[in-house]
Amino acid sequence: MAALTTFSGTTLSGKRVLLIVSGGIAAFKVHELIRLLRAQGCGVTCVLTEAGRQFVTPLSLQALSEAKVYADLFSLTDESEMGHIQLSRSADLLAVVPATADLLARMAGGLANDLASTVLLATDKPVLVAPAMNVRMWLHAATQANIALLQSRGIHVVGPDEGAMACHEFGPGRMAEPAAILAAIAALLDPPKPLAGKHAIVTSGPTHEPIDPIRYIANRSSGKQGHAIATALAALGARVTLISGPVAVADPTGVSVRRVETAQQMLEAAQAALPADIAVCAAAVADWRVANAAEGKIKKKQGVAAPALELVPNPDILATLSSAGPSRPRLVVGFAAETDDLLANAASKLQRKGCDWIIANDVSPATGIMGGEENTVHLVTAAGIEDWPRLSKQRVAEQIAARIAGVFA
Ligand code: C5P
Repeated sequence: MAALTTFSGTTLSGKRVLLIVSGGIAAFKVHELIRLLRAQGCGVTCVLTEAGRQFVTPLSLQALSEAKVYADLFSLTDESEMGHIQLSRSADLLAVVPATADLLARMAGGLANDLASTVLLATDKPVLVAPAMNVRMWLHAATQANIALLQSRGIHVVGPDEGAMACHEFGPGRMAEPAAILAAIAALLDPPKPLAGKHAIVTSGPTHEPIDPIRYIANRSSGKQGHAIATALAALGARVTLISGPVAVADPTGVSVRRVETAQQMLEAAQAALPADIAVCAAAVADWRVANAAEGKIKKKQGVAAPALELVPNPDILATLSSAGPSRPRLVVGFAAETDDLLANAASKLQRKGCDWIIANDVSPATGIMGGEENTVHLVTAAGIEDWPRLSKQRVAEQIAARIAGVFA
C-alpha cells in the first residue's frame, strides 16, 4: 500500500476526477480531499452512494466541488443530463473515497446495482480506491482476496493506514489521509517519467513465415503482452519503437510502430531502430522459415504427394541484439515461453542468448496464458529467480517497466 506522502505540485490543473463517495465514517475526509483537488485546479464531480448519504450530504459535496452531485442510477433527469457512461468518459480518473468493504466486493464481483458500481464497471479510466473499514473487515480473507483481485486487474489502492479507528480499535483499516490520496491521484494523472530520454525497442506478436503467397507458418502469440510492455515503457517516458508481427490488437498510442511479417523483417527493423538503451524481445519469433517457399500458390494434384517443406533456422533477434557490440542496448530482456522445465530452460536461455533478464512464463494450454488476458511470470536474472503472482498482462507490463526504470535510476 502507498506510503503517506505530501503533494505540493500543480500537475492537476485542467484534469477531472470522478469522486465516488461510499458509506463510511471516513467519508467526512472527502471534504478536505475535494478542497485540495480544487486548490490544484482539478475539476471534481461527485457520485454519492445511498450509504454515503448517511455520512455526507449532496449539498456539502456540491458546494465544495462547485458541480452537480450524482446519486441515483434510476434518475431519468440525471441519466439524460449525464449518462453513467458519460460520467466516466468525462473524467481522467475515478477515485473511490472511502471504499467500503461492500463496494470493493461489488467491484470485484462485477456488480452494477447502483450508480457508483455501474460507473466503475463501465469505465476504462484508471481507478484508485481508498479503503476504509474496521480492522477485522479489512483483514478478512474475503476483503483481502477482493483487493488482490482488483489489483491484478489494474485497480490502484491507497492505504489503508494503521491507527486508532472510530470503532475504538487499532490496526489497519483507517482511510489514507486526504494529502496521501491527493498524492496518489497526482502520481496516476501525471506519473513521473524515469525513462525520459531513453529509447526502447520492443518486439511483439508472432511472425508469419510464408510457405507460398497464400499460406504461412505461424503461432498463437496475440501480441498482448508485448504491446502492453511498449505502452508501459512509453508511460514512463521512454521513446518506444514497437516492432510487431501480424496481430489483432490495436497499436498503442504514443509509440512508434513498425509492422513486419517475417523473422528476417523483424530483425532488420530491430537493427534499423538501433541505437537503443533497452530492448525487450517479447515476440514469439518462428524458429524456422521455409527455405523452399513457392513463388506461386502450391496446387494440390491427385496422386501427387504432399509437398515437403524444407525448414531452415531463422536469425535469433534476441541473441543478435545481445551481442550487438558497441550498439548493444544497455538492458536486453528476453522471454521464455515454455511448456516444460520452465525455470531450467529460462536460466539456460539467459546464458545462451547473452541477454540480461529472461521473463519466463508457462504457456501450456491449461494456463490460458497464450492469447489470454493474464500472465504468471518469473523474472530470471543473474541474481536469481523471482516468482510473480498471476496478474493481468497490463499489470505485468507495468511491473516490468518499473523494474526497467529501476536499472536507469
Ligand atoms: O529460443 P526461444 O524462442 O525460446 O527464445 C525466446 C526468446 O528469444 C524470446 O524473447 C523471443 O522474442 C526471442 N527470440 C528471438 N528471435 C528468434 C527466436 C526467439 O528474438 N528467432
